[in-house]
Amino acid sequence: MHENKEEYIHIKYEKRGLWNEDLLVFESLPSTNAWALDNIDALKHGNVVRAINQTAGRGRFNRIWSAPEGCNLNLSAIINHTHSETPITMLLPATAIAVRNALKEFNIEATLKWPNDVMVNNKKIAGILAEVDPESNLLVIGIGLNVNIDSDYLGNLSFPQAATSMMIELNNTFELDAVCSKLLCTLEKTVNALYHYGVPYISQEWKKSDHLSGQTLSINSGKSIITGLYSGMQENGQLKITDSTGKEHLFWSGDVSLQKP
Ligand code: ATP
Ligand code: BTN
Repeated sequence: MHENKEEYIHIKYEKRGLWNEDLLVFESLPSTNAWALDNIDALKHGNVVRAINQTAGRGRFNRIWSAPEGCNLNLSAIINHTHSETPITMLLPATAIAVRNALKEFNIEATLKWPNDVMVNNKKIAGILAEVDPESNLLVIGIGLNVNIDSDYLGNLSFPQAATSMMIELNNTFELDAVCSKLLCTLEKTVNALYHYGVPYISQEWKKSDHLSGQTLSINSGKSIITGLYSGMQENGQLKITDSTGKEHLFWSGDVSLQKP
């Protein structure tokens, strides 16, 4: 159970979400994804929930997503995918592409690591958590982008995968509102492109900055660990790898680790 929704009052309420819908900005929330799912009846396609301070951010499998107060962009976008024929699973790569495109506007080149990481110089700069409300079928897409976190903070957390931030990469601090506006703009454009051009648009964009391209990797799906050559992201969002016997394996989700060359 999450905390009672009455406890959290948003501080801003503007037509700055997706497709001119409301962006709700909170001073502090445990998790924007959790709040959005708890309050899904009050939300609609295009709404965005943002927390300046997120105290209990979560990643996949309830792993912890850390963000020091006021340093990161923590937001969740609400998407109604029920009218589209494209697989709902393509919203995750579409969001990663949008984060990459937003970073590019700040002169940061990112790569995309299946399924949900955005990387800069082999370090994780952003993570995405997509969850579906089973009743409304609304999709809650959470994005955590490291903006002004410094290397001391990240170093102390010692994640299994190295992390970075926009500030570390460019030695500059960034205005969170400006990063937020840029990101929502690229997200809106990418989702529009997915709905207009379909999955081939996402596949093409993904290939341009595929972090796993040409790599030998292991994937732990929870049931098995398979090692093989990365053979691309499929048009439904699945990862394909080819093992040493030539057998192909497809995965919807899992933890990917790169094999040292
Ligand atoms: P990993 O980053 O270890 O590959 P993952 O991409 O599979 O994990 P999740 O499974 O969603 O991501 O879990 C979140 C993980 O992200 C945490 O377990 C932690 O290792 C890492 N993490 C948490 N906060 C941050 C952050 N601010 N920046 C970068 N990485 C973080
Ligand atoms: C990952 O670890 O790769 C996914 C992390 C997703 C973090 C974001 S921050 C905004 C939203 N609210 C959450 O609790 N999680 C997501």
